[in-house]
Amino acid sequence: MYVCICNAIRENELRNVARRCPGDAEACYAALGKRPACGTCLDDADAILLEERELSFEPATVTA
Ligand code: FES
Repeated sequence: MYVCICNAIRENELRNVARRCPGDAEACYAALGKRPACGTCLDDADAILLEERELSFEPATVTA
């Protein structure tokens, strides 16, 4: 599924970049070599980035 029609960015591309780019949707688009055009996708893209980072979060283990 495409998240951004203007740039043809697919959801799986965005989820992959979420793990290596700590920024918002615009920053992650830049990491893909793209820039927002109309901007209508940015809220949904930010939600996907947040969800992906939460899913991939691994809490640190504490050893005593
Ligand atoms: S749909 Fe993403 S910038 Fe237009």
